[in-house]
Amino acid sequence: MTARPRVWVSRPTFPDIVARLDPHFDVVAEPREVMFSPAELAAKIADCDAVIVGLKERIGAAEVAKAPRLRIVANLGVGYDNLDLAALTAAGVAASNTAGALDESVADFTWAMLLGAARRMGEAERWLRAGEWHGTRFTDWLGMDVRGRTLGILGMGRIGQAVARRAVGFGMQVIYHNRSRLSQALESECRARWVDKGELLRSSDFLVLALPLTPESRHAIGAAELAQMKPTAVLANIARGGIVDDAALADALAKHQLAAAALDVFEGEPVVNPRLLELDNVLLSPHIASASPDARRGMTTMAVDNVLALFGHGPHAGHPPTILNPEVLAAASPTTHP
Ligand code: GLV
Repeated sequence: MTARPRVWVSRPTFPDIVARLDPHFDVVAEPREVMFSPAELAAKIADCDAVIVGLKERIGAAEVAKAPRLRIVANLGVGYDNLDLAALTAAGVAASNTAGALDESVADFTWAMLLGAARRMGEAERWLRAGEWHGTRFTDWLGMDVRGRTLGILGMGRIGQAVARRAVGFGMQVIYHNRSRLSQALESECRARWVDKGELLRSSDFLVLALPLTPESRHAIGAAELAQMKPTAVLANIARGGIVDDAALADALAKHQLAAAALDVFEGEPVVNPRLLELDNVLLSPHIASASPDARRGMTTMAVDNVLALFGHGPHAGHPPTILNPEVLAAASPTTHP
Protein backbone atom coordinates (compact mmCIF):
# COMPACT_ATOMS: atom_id res chain seq x y z
CA MET A 1 0.00 0.00 0.00
CA THR A 2 1.45 3.40 -0.94
CA ALA A 3 1.78 5.91 1.89
CA ARG A 4 -0.78 8.70 1.80
CA PRO A 5 0.52 12.21 1.14
CA ARG A 6 1.20 14.19 4.27
CA VAL A 7 -0.13 17.69 5.01
CA TRP A 8 1.07 19.96 7.81
CA VAL A 9 -1.21 22.77 9.00
CA SER A 10 0.96 25.25 10.90
CA ARG A 11 -1.71 26.86 13.08
CA PRO A 12 -5.05 25.95 14.61
CA THR A 13 -7.91 26.88 12.26
CA PHE A 14 -11.37 25.37 11.82
CA PRO A 15 -11.24 21.58 12.39
CA ASP A 16 -14.42 20.89 10.41
CA ILE A 17 -12.86 22.47 7.32
CA VAL A 18 -9.42 20.89 7.74
CA ALA A 19 -11.20 17.52 8.15
CA ARG A 20 -12.01 17.65 4.42
CA LEU A 21 -8.39 16.62 3.89
CA ASP A 22 -8.72 13.45 5.97
CA PRO A 23 -10.04 11.08 3.29
CA HIS A 24 -6.97 11.70 1.13
CA PHE A 25 -4.07 12.78 3.36
CA ASP A 26 -2.35 12.17 6.65
CA VAL A 27 -2.87 15.50 8.34
CA VAL A 28 -0.81 16.97 11.16
CA ALA A 29 -2.46 20.15 12.43
CA GLU A 30 -0.72 22.19 15.10
CA PRO A 31 -2.96 22.47 18.16
CA ARG A 32 -1.37 25.75 19.32
CA GLU A 33 -0.01 28.98 17.85
CA VAL A 34 3.76 28.60 17.80
CA MET A 35 6.42 30.95 16.48
CA PHE A 36 8.67 28.39 14.80
CA SER A 37 12.36 29.09 14.40
CA PRO A 38 13.68 28.62 10.84
CA ALA A 39 15.19 25.25 11.88
CA GLU A 40 11.91 24.08 13.48
CA LEU A 41 9.97 25.17 10.42
CA ALA A 42 12.33 23.32 8.08
CA ALA A 43 11.97 20.19 10.23
CA LYS A 44 8.15 20.48 10.24
CA ILE A 45 7.89 20.61 6.45
CA ALA A 46 10.76 18.22 5.61
CA ASP A 47 8.61 15.13 5.05
CA CYS A 48 5.44 16.90 3.83
CA ASP A 49 3.77 16.77 0.46
CA ALA A 50 1.69 19.87 1.21
CA VAL A 51 1.67 22.55 3.88
CA ILE A 52 -0.94 25.12 4.93
CA VAL A 53 0.89 27.98 6.61
CA GLY A 54 0.21 31.35 8.14
CA LEU A 55 1.92 34.66 7.47
CA LYS A 56 4.48 34.16 10.23
CA GLU A 57 5.94 31.12 8.47
CA ARG A 58 8.61 32.29 6.06
CA ILE A 59 9.31 29.73 3.36
CA GLY A 60 12.08 30.09 0.79
CA ALA A 61 14.89 28.22 -0.93
CA ALA A 62 16.46 26.84 2.26
CA GLU A 63 13.19 25.33 3.51
CA VAL A 64 12.11 23.80 0.19
CA ALA A 65 15.59 22.35 -0.38
CA LYS A 66 15.03 20.23 2.72
CA ALA A 67 11.52 19.15 1.67
CA PRO A 68 11.98 16.97 -1.42
CA ARG A 69 8.35 15.79 -1.50
CA LEU A 70 6.75 19.20 -1.10
CA ARG A 71 4.31 20.07 -3.90
CA ILE A 72 2.29 22.97 -2.53
CA VAL A 73 2.48 25.74 0.05
CA ALA A 74 -1.03 27.04 0.67
CA ASN A 75 -0.82 30.39 2.41
CA LEU A 76 -3.54 31.37 4.87
CA GLY A 77 -3.55 34.96 3.70
CA VAL A 78 -3.96 37.04 0.58
CA GLY A 79 -0.54 38.70 1.01
CA TYR A 80 2.34 36.29 0.49
CA ASP A 81 5.44 38.31 1.29
CA ASN A 82 6.33 35.46 3.69
CA LEU A 83 6.93 33.21 0.67
CA ASP A 84 9.86 33.42 -1.70
CA LEU A 85 7.73 32.76 -4.75
CA ALA A 86 10.69 32.64 -7.15
CA ALA A 87 12.43 30.02 -5.00
CA LEU A 88 9.27 27.93 -4.73
CA THR A 89 8.70 28.14 -8.48
CA ALA A 90 12.33 27.20 -9.21
CA ALA A 91 11.88 24.16 -6.97
CA GLY A 92 8.64 23.21 -8.74
CA VAL A 93 6.54 23.86 -5.63
CA ALA A 94 3.13 25.43 -6.16
CA ALA A 95 2.02 28.32 -3.95
CA SER A 96 -1.48 29.63 -3.34
CA ASN A 97 -3.10 32.46 -1.38
CA THR A 98 -6.64 33.30 -0.29
CA ALA A 99 -7.47 36.05 -2.79
CA GLY A 100 -11.16 36.81 -2.79
CA ALA A 101 -12.00 35.20 0.56
CA LEU A 102 -11.50 38.28 2.71
CA ASP A 103 -11.99 41.39 0.56
CA GLU A 104 -15.35 42.43 1.99
CA SER A 105 -14.39 41.81 5.64
CA VAL A 106 -11.16 43.74 5.23
CA ALA A 107 -13.00 46.58 3.48
CA ASP A 108 -15.54 46.77 6.34
CA PHE A 109 -12.72 46.84 8.86
CA THR A 110 -10.90 49.53 6.91
CA TRP A 111 -13.94 51.77 7.22
CA ALA A 112 -14.24 50.98 10.92
CA MET A 113 -10.62 52.07 11.35
CA LEU A 114 -10.91 55.17 9.14
CA LEU A 115 -14.03 56.39 10.88
CA GLY A 116 -12.65 55.41 14.27
CA ALA A 117 -9.49 57.42 13.71
CA ALA A 118 -11.39 60.36 12.21
CA ARG A 119 -13.83 60.48 15.14
CA ARG A 120 -11.13 59.84 17.77
CA MET A 121 -12.81 56.70 19.08
CA GLY A 122 -9.73 55.09 20.64
CA GLU A 123 -8.81 58.27 22.45
CA ALA A 124 -12.39 58.86 23.63
CA GLU A 125 -12.77 55.31 24.89
CA ARG A 126 -9.49 55.44 26.83
CA TRP A 127 -10.62 58.71 28.42
CA LEU A 128 -14.01 57.32 29.40
CA ARG A 129 -12.56 54.10 30.85
CA ALA A 130 -10.07 56.16 32.81
CA GLY A 131 -13.03 57.71 34.65
CA GLU A 132 -12.39 61.16 33.17
CA TRP A 133 -15.97 61.74 32.02
CA HIS A 134 -17.54 64.21 34.40
CA GLY A 135 -19.15 66.18 31.60
CA THR A 136 -18.01 67.43 28.21
CA ARG A 137 -18.13 70.83 26.59
CA PHE A 138 -20.18 71.22 23.40
CA THR A 139 -16.97 71.91 21.53
CA ASP A 140 -14.95 68.99 22.94
CA TRP A 141 -14.06 65.85 21.01
CA LEU A 142 -14.51 67.31 17.57
CA GLY A 143 -13.51 64.81 14.90
CA MET A 144 -13.62 64.84 11.14
CA ASP A 145 -16.57 64.12 8.89
CA VAL A 146 -15.99 62.06 5.77
CA ARG A 147 -18.87 63.40 3.69
CA GLY A 148 -17.72 65.49 0.75
CA ARG A 149 -14.08 64.62 1.39
CA THR A 150 -11.62 62.82 -0.88
CA LEU A 151 -10.70 59.22 -0.26
CA GLY A 152 -7.37 58.17 -1.77
CA ILE A 153 -6.44 54.52 -2.22
CA LEU A 154 -2.90 53.35 -2.87
CA GLY A 155 -3.11 49.85 -4.33
CA MET A 156 -6.34 49.19 -6.19
CA GLY A 157 -6.66 45.42 -6.15
CA ARG A 158 -9.75 43.63 -4.93
CA ILE A 159 -9.54 45.06 -1.40
CA GLY A 160 -8.91 48.62 -2.61
CA GLN A 161 -11.91 48.30 -4.91
CA ALA A 162 -14.12 46.96 -2.09
CA VAL A 163 -13.08 49.97 0.04
CA ALA A 164 -13.86 52.33 -2.87
CA ARG A 165 -17.33 50.88 -3.47
CA ARG A 166 -18.31 51.69 0.12
CA ALA A 167 -17.23 55.32 -0.30
CA VAL A 168 -20.29 56.12 -2.41
CA GLY A 169 -22.47 55.61 0.67
CA PHE A 170 -20.33 58.07 2.59
CA GLY A 171 -20.64 60.71 -0.14
CA MET A 172 -16.92 60.84 -0.91
CA GLN A 173 -14.89 61.36 -4.08
CA VAL A 174 -12.44 58.54 -4.74
CA ILE A 175 -9.00 58.80 -6.31
CA TYR A 176 -6.50 55.98 -6.56
CA HIS A 177 -3.00 55.15 -7.59
CA ASN A 178 -1.95 51.73 -8.80
CA ARG A 179 0.85 50.50 -11.04
CA SER A 180 -1.72 49.65 -13.68
CA ARG A 181 -4.95 51.50 -14.23
CA LEU A 182 -8.25 49.71 -13.75
CA SER A 183 -10.41 49.11 -16.81
CA GLN A 184 -12.90 51.88 -17.55
CA ALA A 185 -15.71 49.57 -16.45
CA LEU A 186 -14.09 48.98 -13.04
CA GLU A 187 -13.21 52.65 -12.63
CA SER A 188 -16.81 53.62 -13.15
CA GLU A 189 -18.10 50.80 -10.93
CA CYS A 190 -15.80 52.02 -8.14
CA ARG A 191 -16.38 55.69 -9.12
CA ALA A 192 -12.64 56.10 -8.81
CA ARG A 193 -10.23 58.30 -10.77
CA TRP A 194 -6.59 57.32 -11.35
CA VAL A 195 -4.02 59.93 -10.28
CA ASP A 196 -0.24 59.85 -9.92
CA LYS A 197 1.20 59.12 -6.50
CA GLY A 198 2.08 62.79 -5.83
CA GLU A 199 -1.47 63.94 -6.48
CA LEU A 200 -2.81 61.08 -4.36
CA LEU A 201 -0.68 62.19 -1.41
CA ARG A 202 -1.51 65.88 -1.82
CA SER A 203 -5.24 65.56 -2.45
CA SER A 204 -6.39 62.77 -0.14
CA ASP A 205 -8.27 63.68 3.03
CA PHE A 206 -8.30 59.98 3.89
CA LEU A 207 -5.59 57.74 2.46
CA VAL A 208 -5.95 53.96 2.56
CA LEU A 209 -2.99 51.69 1.82
CA ALA A 210 -4.14 48.46 0.21
CA LEU A 211 -1.07 47.34 -1.72
CA PRO A 212 1.09 44.23 -1.27
CA LEU A 213 4.47 44.43 0.44
CA THR A 214 7.23 43.94 -2.13
CA PRO A 215 10.81 45.25 -2.27
CA GLU A 216 9.42 48.19 -4.30
CA SER A 217 6.60 49.05 -1.89
CA ARG A 218 8.74 48.91 1.27
CA HIS A 219 8.47 52.37 2.89
CA ALA A 220 6.21 53.56 0.07
CA ILE A 221 5.02 55.97 2.78
CA GLY A 222 8.03 57.51 4.50
CA ALA A 223 9.00 60.97 5.71
CA ALA A 224 9.03 62.47 2.20
CA GLU A 225 5.56 61.15 1.37
CA LEU A 226 4.08 62.11 4.74
CA ALA A 227 5.37 65.64 4.23
CA GLN A 228 3.25 65.93 1.09
CA MET A 229 0.00 65.00 2.87
CA LYS A 230 -2.52 67.49 4.23
CA PRO A 231 -2.16 68.30 7.93
CA THR A 232 -5.85 67.34 8.25
CA ALA A 233 -5.39 63.95 6.56
CA VAL A 234 -6.02 60.52 8.06
CA LEU A 235 -3.86 57.58 6.94
CA ALA A 236 -4.95 53.94 7.23
CA ASN A 237 -2.60 51.00 6.74
CA ILE A 238 -4.55 47.75 6.49
CA ALA A 239 -2.09 46.16 4.07
CA ARG A 240 1.28 45.17 5.55
CA GLY A 241 3.75 46.44 8.04
CA GLY A 242 6.79 47.81 6.25
CA ILE A 243 4.80 49.70 3.62
CA VAL A 244 4.81 52.60 6.07
CA ASP A 245 8.00 53.74 7.77
CA ASP A 246 6.51 53.56 11.28
CA ALA A 247 9.22 55.74 12.85
CA ALA A 248 8.60 58.47 10.26
CA LEU A 249 4.86 58.15 10.84
CA ALA A 250 5.29 58.52 14.61
CA ASP A 251 7.30 61.72 13.95
CA ALA A 252 4.64 63.10 11.61
CA LEU A 253 1.79 62.30 14.03
CA ALA A 254 3.65 63.80 16.97
CA LYS A 255 4.22 67.02 15.01
CA HIS A 256 0.57 67.04 13.77
CA GLN A 257 1.91 67.05 10.24
CA LEU A 258 -0.91 64.57 9.74
CA ALA A 259 -4.15 64.56 11.75
CA ALA A 260 -4.44 60.87 12.55
CA ALA A 261 -3.62 57.34 11.52
CA ALA A 262 -5.25 53.93 11.78
CA LEU A 263 -2.91 50.96 11.75
CA ASP A 264 -3.77 47.28 11.64
CA VAL A 265 -0.26 46.21 10.59
CA PHE A 266 3.21 47.17 11.79
CA GLU A 267 6.85 46.86 10.88
CA GLY A 268 8.19 43.99 12.99
CA GLU A 269 4.78 43.00 14.39
CA PRO A 270 3.78 41.75 16.90
CA VAL A 271 6.22 44.32 18.25
CA VAL A 272 4.84 47.84 17.79
CA ASN A 273 7.02 50.94 17.68
CA PRO A 274 6.67 52.23 21.29
CA ARG A 275 6.32 55.81 20.08
CA LEU A 276 3.09 54.88 18.30
CA LEU A 277 1.75 53.41 21.55
CA GLU A 278 2.16 56.77 23.24
CA LEU A 279 0.33 58.86 20.66
CA ASP A 280 -3.36 59.63 21.02
CA ASN A 281 -3.95 60.39 17.34
CA VAL A 282 -3.38 56.84 16.13
CA LEU A 283 -5.88 53.99 16.32
CA LEU A 284 -4.16 50.61 16.63
CA SER A 285 -5.34 47.04 16.07
CA PRO A 286 -3.44 43.75 16.09
CA HIS A 287 -3.62 42.68 12.40
CA ILE A 288 -7.27 41.58 12.55
CA ALA A 289 -8.79 43.13 9.41
CA SER A 290 -9.82 39.70 8.11
CA ALA A 291 -10.93 38.39 11.50
CA SER A 292 -14.58 37.59 10.84
CA PRO A 293 -15.96 34.06 10.79
CA ASP A 294 -16.92 34.39 7.11
CA ALA A 295 -13.48 35.56 6.06
CA ARG A 296 -11.41 33.26 8.24
CA ARG A 297 -13.53 30.20 7.39
CA GLY A 298 -13.44 31.21 3.72
CA MET A 299 -9.64 31.53 3.86
CA THR A 300 -9.30 28.08 5.45
CA THR A 301 -11.65 26.60 2.86
CA MET A 302 -9.61 28.15 0.08
CA ALA A 303 -6.31 26.82 1.43
CA VAL A 304 -7.82 23.34 1.81
CA ASP A 305 -9.36 23.52 -1.69
CA ASN A 306 -5.97 24.45 -3.17
CA VAL A 307 -4.30 21.45 -1.55
CA LEU A 308 -7.13 19.07 -2.50
CA ALA A 309 -7.16 20.37 -6.08
CA LEU A 310 -3.43 20.00 -6.58
CA PHE A 311 -3.73 16.34 -5.69
CA GLY A 312 -6.74 15.87 -7.97
CA HIS A 313 -9.51 16.00 -5.37
CA GLY A 314 -12.37 18.26 -4.32
CA PRO A 315 -14.49 20.79 -6.18
CA HIS A 316 -11.55 22.20 -8.19
CA ALA A 317 -9.74 18.89 -8.87
CA GLY A 318 -6.66 19.56 -10.97
CA HIS A 319 -7.17 23.34 -10.91
CA PRO A 320 -6.13 24.94 -7.61
CA PRO A 321 -8.34 28.05 -7.49
CA THR A 322 -5.86 30.67 -6.33
CA ILE A 323 -2.51 29.45 -7.54
CA LEU A 324 0.24 32.07 -7.56
CA ASN A 325 2.69 30.29 -9.85
CA PRO A 326 0.60 28.40 -12.44
CA GLU A 327 3.75 27.77 -14.46
CA VAL A 328 4.61 25.06 -11.92
CA LEU A 329 1.41 23.20 -12.80
CA ALA A 330 2.03 23.55 -16.51
CA ALA A 331 5.52 22.09 -16.06
CA ALA A 332 4.42 19.17 -13.85
CA SER A 333 3.77 15.89 -15.60
CA PRO A 334 0.37 14.49 -14.60
CA THR A 335 1.96 11.10 -13.98
CA THR A 336 4.80 12.31 -11.75
CA HIS A 337 2.78 12.27 -8.55
CA PRO A 338 0.26 9.75 -7.28
C1 GLV B 1 -3.69 39.29 5.91
O1 GLV B 1 -2.95 40.12 6.26
C2 GLV B 1 -3.63 38.63 4.64
O2 GLV B 1 -2.70 38.88 3.86
O3 GLV B 1 -4.52 37.85 4.35
